[in-house]
Amino acid sequence: MEDNNFKKIKIFDTTLRDGEQSPGASMNIEEKLNLARQLARLGVDVIEAGFPIASEGDFEAVKAIAAEIKGVEIAGLARANEKDIYRAYSAVKYAEKPVIHTFIATSDIHLKYKLKLTREELYEKAVNMVKYAKSFIENVEFSAEDAFRSDLDFLCRVVEGVIDAGATTVNIPDTVGYATPFEFFDFIKNIKKRIDAGGNIILSVHCHNDLGLGTANSLSAILAGANQVECTVNGIGERAGNAALEEIVAALNVRKDVYKAVTGINMSEIFRSSQLLTHITGISVQPNKAIVGKNAFAHEAGIHQDGVLKEKTTYEIMTPELVGRQHDELVLGKHSGKHAFKEKLISLGYLLNDEEIEKAFVEFKNLADKKKEIYDEDIDSLVAKSHHLEKYELKYVNVVCGDTVSPLSMVKLLVDGELKHDSSCGNGPVDAAINAIEKIVNSKAKVIAYEVKSIRGTAEAQGDVSITVEDKEKQISITGRSAHTDIVVASAKAYVNAINKLYIYDSNLKKSVETEVYG
Ligand code: KIV
Ligand code: ZN
Repeated sequence: MEDNNFKKIKIFDTTLRDGEQSPGASMNIEEKLNLARQLARLGVDVIEAGFPIASEGDFEAVKAIAAEIKGVEIAGLARANEKDIYRAYSAVKYAEKPVIHTFIATSDIHLKYKLKLTREELYEKAVNMVKYAKSFIENVEFSAEDAFRSDLDFLCRVVEGVIDAGATTVNIPDTVGYATPFEFFDFIKNIKKRIDAGGNIILSVHCHNDLGLGTANSLSAILAGANQVECTVNGIGERAGNAALEEIVAALNVRKDVYKAVTGINMSEIFRSSQLLTHITGISVQPNKAIVGKNAFAHEAGIHQDGVLKEKTTYEIMTPELVGRQHDELVLGKHSGKHAFKEKLISLGYLLNDEEIEKAFVEFKNLADKKKEIYDEDIDSLVAKSHHLEKYELKYVNVVCGDTVSPLSMVKLLVDGELKHDSSCGNGPVDAAINAIEKIVNSKAKVIAYEVKSIRGTAEAQGDVSITVEDKEKQISITGRSAHTDIVVASAKAYVNAINKLYIYDSNLKKSVETEVYG
């Protein structure tokens, strides 16, 4: 669709699928639904909701998103085989605009070592599986995994074959983030020439960020004729991640003169989407991250501050408001009532039900007793807590530590409403607290990452702790997060939060799935 000669770029968001493949980014169904609602507010064209064959939990999440989110295409990923495709169809069929996204690798390196197929066998498989997907659903996307390292002629033959078989979108991934912007421009331009003969096909790209070029390559592809980009909020994804949605969209907006393209993204929802993802996964963005990082609009050097005070455009190419970042700092304190608290939640973009508001408000009052000013970041942490169903609740933690004693902790946990307690020593106070909790919950999860940050850099600041735990048996890693003025308490709470998430993940797995007959 053209608008004043500007072409429309479809934004295909894969935060819930490729993004979720980031270590520690696993989300439960409720969290995925929350994020999907926000992605719909953000205005993405396609939400890739998951990989339905991967687990019962993923299947249920895709199904729930398909059933609830209207007005957006909902895609489910499937390898190029009948079982995967039928499973994806069974989950996305509830959507108003369902998409089956099927993929297979086309590079010789994948054919030889991974798939052990000849080019001819691969071609047949790709074409037949697109036909199979097409027998269920009109919108079928085909991805040639590792396309950029594939032989261009062979890739184009496969692309033409799947288009003849009915694919409505053809996606060209740089799966391993190997391309450079000039090369990728030529590559896409060549493919575009061949596809144009095929009519109304969406040409999509999917760029990984291994050399930090994910966004640059996606933008080059747009210049070369791509009309869909696949990306994730905050750039999360496999390894170094995917091209970041906020960077692509902001570049198209700020440099309209170069790209001459528009998206359907509601830019004022960008920052909120980034924040919500951070809260849900516990994975923060680096402070200097473009668009959504803490310092993305901060001017530190005196000469810059002076310039900005005289005229903003001296050092600002866009305003923070453009991407939904507000300068107003409505600071709450212990005298603030529920009304002000609710207003604040709304201004931060949280849509909580009454029970969640009540829970967050109690936590807010407790915090306000300990801390004079409550900032937006504090509210974010409170809301993160109120979002989760809790099997375990930390009631008490006490650690004796210092340079002359070995740390010893005592904890009390409510487990399904029953109070349990235990004690343990450890290598440090945090380790001691976690060991005591583990004696009660017996999760066998292993801590694989621990991060503590200060929310606002003052002495009365809260410590914001993220703990990533791994459950080898379930092959999953999950991040728990909490904030408290005492970092040992924050750590114990973050650990309990991670264990609660693991528990929810388990319950989702056990949830009965509607029996689908594979056919
Ligand atoms: O990176 C990749 O190639 C993918 C495909 C499944 C699209 O994620
Ligand atoms: Zn990918």
